[in-house]
Amino acid sequence: MSKYTQALQAVRRHMPLEAAADDLRPLVHYATLAASSHNTQPWRFRCERRRIVIRPDLARRCPVVDPDDHHLYVSLGCAAENLRQAARAAGWVCQVDFDPASSEMRVELEPAPAERSALFEAIPRRQCTRSEYDGRALTTGELDLLARAGTGDGVTVQLLSDRRDRDRVVDYVTQGNRLQFADPAWKSELREWLRFSAAEAIARGDGLYGPVMGYPVAPRWLGSITTRLAMSAKAQNRRDINAIRRSSAIAVFVSESDDPLHWLETGRCYQRLALQATVLGIAHAFINQPVENTPLRGRFAEALGLGGARADLVLRLGRGPAMPASLRRPVDAVIDTPR
Ligand SMILES: Cc1cc2nc3c(=O)[nH]c(=O)nc-3n(C[C@H](O)[C@H](O)[C@H](O)COP(=O)(O)O)c2cc1C
Repeated sequence: MSKYTQALQAVRRHMPLEAAADDLRPLVHYATLAASSHNTQPWRFRCERRRIVIRPDLARRCPVVDPDDHHLYVSLGCAAENLRQAARAAGWVCQVDFDPASSEMRVELEPAPAERSALFEAIPRRQCTRSEYDGRALTTGELDLLARAGTGDGVTVQLLSDRRDRDRVVDYVTQGNRLQFADPAWKSELREWLRFSAAEAIARGDGLYGPVMGYPVAPRWLGSITTRLAMSAKAQNRRDINAIRRSSAIAVFVSESDDPLHWLETGRCYQRLALQATVLGIAHAFINQPVENTPLRGRFAEALGLGGARADLVLRLGRGPAMPASLRRPVDAVIDTPR
């Protein structure tokens, strides 16, 4: 078994929860298995009595692709949703509150009967799968379950499955690629988060490992040269057009207000939808190019008839070949000691 596979097995696993009554660290383990933009894991956790505080780790911002910290707050919302699912399995219900003054999320825990939901069981298996899917339609029942999981307070999800809608998404994704690849600052920020070899991916425990993204493994010096050559809007557009046309549905998350509270809620909705998809054996990957440039995002929202609402995230969904999953930093690296 390769060292990377061993490292994955150590990270993507269930933890005993009996201890969680006194020690809340197993809950943090589940929170860290959430999605985060560029796998930056921009979170810090503080465990107090019957409370876990989640705050942003601003050293892990991506100011070029995410100048307003939208993706950063979405990522914190993803972690909060995993935490809530794990807390319920450990015998707690959660009240999640956001304090805009401190930018902290406070997750208050109240004892409740322990319940291991299907979404909780799926946490270690949920991952972004950047392969080409088989294009087979999802059933109405599957679409209903996904829509229900992806809807929250002030956040809705549109599931687009007809061909015309997919072509419209292709148009905005390709425009987004052209804008992003023409920006040297965007490319340089992305390169900082690429992990070229298994050794580098394991040592850092974060970032985007080549094979997870569909790139070959290489030492950093070589990987850096080959990705520099391979990283073009034309090559990316070719990959994305095929991937979108062969997906079964596109999900667009939409929030009614454009502020951190709604970005956190979007993260929670994405995480639930992704867990529900995992339970159904449906894979997903982000295609966020239409929402990562402000003017393009406005035109995309207009094309979808969203009025003044913000288009937050775009995903493709379908069934297809498995891909390697990404790693995480150890729980100790993200826990603050209590004050
Ligand atoms: C807010 C947000 C934005 C993301 N944007 C993209 C994206 O544009 N393209 C992409 O391939 N993955 C994107 N991702 C997926 C992350 O790269 C992924 O969650 C991270 O690498 C961890 O991998 P995992 O989700 O498979 O565990 C995004 C994730 C989040 C939470």
